[in-house]
Formats: sequence, C-alpha cells, structure tokens
Amino acid sequence: MNRRTFLQESSKFSIAAGAWAAAPMANAKGFTRKSANEKIVMGAIGVNSMGNVIMNLAANQPNVEYAAICDVDANVANKRADEMLKKTGKRPIVFNDYRKMLEMKDLDAVSIGTPDHWHCLNMVDACQAGKDVYVEKPLANSIAECNVMVEATRKYGRIVQVGQQQRSGGHWQQAIKMIQDGSIGDLRKVNVWGNFNYGIGQKKVPDEAIPAGLDFDRWLGPAPTATYNQARHHGSWRFFWNYGGGLLTDWGVHLLDIALWAKNIKTAPLSASAVGGNYYAPDHDHQTFDTMGVQYQLPGYTINWEHCAGVEAGPYGRNYGLAFVGNNATLVIDRSGWEMFAEQENGKYKITPVPPNKWGKENHEEHVKNWIACMRDRKEPNCPIENGRLVALYAHLGNISLRTDSRVKYNETTADFGKNTEANALIKPIYRPPFVFPKV
Ligand SMILES: NC(=O)c1ccc[n+]([C@@H]2O[C@H](COP(=O)([O-])OP(=O)(O)OC[C@H]3O[C@@H](n4cnc5c(N)ncnc54)[C@H](O)[C@@H]3O)[C@@H](O)[C@H]2O)c1
Repeated sequence: MNRRTFLQESSKFSIAAGAWAAAPMANAKGFTRKSANEKIVMGAIGVNSMGNVIMNLAANQPNVEYAAICDVDANVANKRADEMLKKTGKRPIVFNDYRKMLEMKDLDAVSIGTPDHWHCLNMVDACQAGKDVYVEKPLANSIAECNVMVEATRKYGRIVQVGQQQRSGGHWQQAIKMIQDGSIGDLRKVNVWGNFNYGIGQKKVPDEAIPAGLDFDRWLGPAPTATYNQARHHGSWRFFWNYGGGLLTDWGVHLLDIALWAKNIKTAPLSASAVGGNYYAPDHDHQTFDTMGVQYQLPGYTINWEHCAGVEAGPYGRNYGLAFVGNNATLVIDRSGWEMFAEQENGKYKITPVPPNKWGKENHEEHVKNWIACMRDRKEPNCPIENGRLVALYAHLGNISLRTDSRVKYNETTADFGKNTEANALIKPIYRPPFVFPKV
C-alpha cells in the first residue's frame, strides 16, 4: 500500500468511526441521563486482581453501588463480596454465570476484569443487555473480537471505557499536547519499550486437579479445552496464546496507545514486522515471546516496539516508556513523569531541555471517574472503544508477524491480510462449542 492508498484507507476508517460516534448514546436502550444525585448500580465480572481494583475505585465514588459480583472462581467471588459487605454494609449478589447477572434489570453498568479471551463475549453481551461497560485492556485477544466489540458499542449506544488509564492522566495529556503543538519539532519516530521480569511467566509445574470452587470449564469459556495447570491460571494466563498475547498485548497496548495518540493515528499501519522468539528461561512456562522487537511503518512515522521479559533494565534508566524523537528534542515519558533531551544547533539548544520531573502517577481513579461522569452525561469517555480496538490491533499485528514469520499488512476494508493465509488464520479464534462468536 502506498501513501495515497493508505490515506484513502485511513479516511474510510475515520468516516466509519465518525458514523459510529454519531450513533445515539443518549437515552439508548432506556438508559436515561443520571444526575450526580442518582444512584448508578453496577456489577463486576472477574474480580481477582485488576477487576477488584476497578470495582473498588468505582464503588468509592458518590452514588455508585456494586449490587452484584460474578467470578467463575467461587473463592474469589465470595472473598470480594465479603470485602464489599465490610466496606459498604451491603453484600453484592454473587454469580458464577455473568449472563444471569446481566438479567438484573436494575444494573446500569458492568466492569470487566476477566482474562483477555473472555472480554469480547462479556462485553458484547453486556452491551446487548443495555449496560454500560468498563472493559480492561487489551480490548480482546484477537482482531476479529475487537472489531465486533466496536460494532456492539455503537449499535447499542453504550458508554464504553477501555482500561487504558493513561488517557486520563494529566502528565500524559500534557506531553501529548506539547508534541502536537510542535514543541519537539517534527516527530518522525517513537521508541517504545517494556521490560518486565513477570513476562516469562511462572516456573513450570505439573498439571493438577482443578481447585475446589473453580469452574474451570467456564474459565476456559470459548478457548479450547485444557487440563488445569496453576502456571497458566490466575494472572499467568497472559503468556498463552489461547488467553493472551504476552508483554506486547499486556503492556504494549498501554504504551503504543500513547504513540498513536501523539500523531492522532486512526488506522492500521502500512505494515508490521517483528523479530524475536523464546530465548530465555526454559524452566518458566510461556508460549508468548520473551524477546521481541516490532517495527510499525506508517506514512512519515515509525513506531518501534521492544521488550525483553525477565529483565528490568532499559533505555534512559527506565524499564518501560516511550522516547518521542523530534527534530528539536527527544521527549521521554513513563508513568512517573517525563523529561526532554534537546538538540543543539551552532552550540545553542533548539529548545530548553527539561530535567526529569516526577509528577506522573497511577491514573486508574481518574479513568474510572471519567467513565462514571460520561455515563451520567452520555458522553464519550477518555478511551473510547475505537482507541482500544486500534491499539489492540497494533499489538496483535506484532504477534501475528512473528508467529507467521512475515511482514504483515492488515487491510482495514477487507479486514484481512490479503493473500497471507497463515496470518489470516490468526484473525479470529475458533470458539469452543457451545460458545458462539458474537453477531451484532
Ligand atoms: N489497566 C491495567 O493497568 C491493567 C493491569 C492489570 C491487568 N489488566 C487487565 O485486567 C484483566 C484481568 O487481569 P488480572 O491480572 O486481574 O487477571 P486474574 O487472572 O488475576 O483475574 C481474572 C479473574 O477473572 C475470573 N474469570 C475468568 N473467566 C470469567 C468469566 N467468564 N466470568 C467471570 N469471571 C471470570 C477469574 O476467575 C479471575 O478471578 C486482563 O484483561 C488484564 O490485561 C489491566
């Protein structure tokens, strides 16, 4: 695809996205605006780790009540329900099947903190049931699931916040504004990296009997049948292709999102090309790549992703971050803050360098607050579904490139990789019966 066809493709997609954005959000499916004095009633799906964080942050907000909790692990569900009873004086109803929970008429919204292979069914069903949604990142474990989730949001007019919380963070917003205002000069390239020890997964252990209280068949859901292994369960599922995409989807979506935001990118890259493999820690259980680099080619812009799982040193003394390379300066940023390395001309700085500042922080709370405010006002939240979809697409392209040993070119119009049949086979998962890929 040359630059011209790329722009045509981009504009097609932006028009489509615009049309989605114009879909009725106010009063859709009977949801009326709610003033700050009116209660929003919520349910949570998947509450072990991040789902629990989001649930608690939302429950801390005025006039928000969690009336229901669903988790396929009864130990987790009951623990969280007891904690909520202690916190609020009311014990949420506990469910094992989220579809039963969605039948609750008084539920306005759900927050989803399940493993990635479940997000699509959880979220599309919730939209169809007329609930607003906070869905954790990456949006889904495949490109096709991401696409149908965008359709569901727009068709059912729901308020959907994707859990890329940096979008609600003040220092991220400030850095994006500086870049877009031209402070660092023309931006040609961004280096993005994420080195994490946890990325090699857990030590290999033998299969075990399914723990009491865990409905493992429902945990697997649409994924292929499997034996129970502790190293592939809570938390570490993200290193197995049927459930997650490794560091590239786990951290990549947080950071690549910022790389796309800086240039207001709305569509797939011209190509994605990856190198790497599994070189490290054979005693640890993981299928996803522990060592990886991906180059995304865009018109006039290159995005360069790198990760090394099992180590935590990185460029600029940061184990993860972005370095925006502009003609006047390089801006380096992570969750803790940012700094600017200025270029020189004739012995003079082109722009005043900025030493490292530390005003960044975790942004989950702002992101949850933004979701709730948008639900009340029926407004688009800080991380709309299209942003969640786009960055998940980028992450999946990197993995697909390395899994198929090919430079991949995703066509937004035909939603495939053209003649690359191996890559096409990885676009959409085959759901295990009785689960059916959602139709919107
Ligand atoms: N935004 C962030 O910074 C951030 C950080 C960490 C994790 N996450 C995301 O949060 C999600 C959850 O990750 P985690 O680390 O908390 O995983 P986890 O394995 O600790 O928890 C997932 C929970 O979901 C439950 N579950 C599985 N299938 C279910 C179903 N069908 N219905 C109800 N419950 C179900 C499991 O029993 C488990 O309790 C992932 O998508 C992850 O990428 C986001």
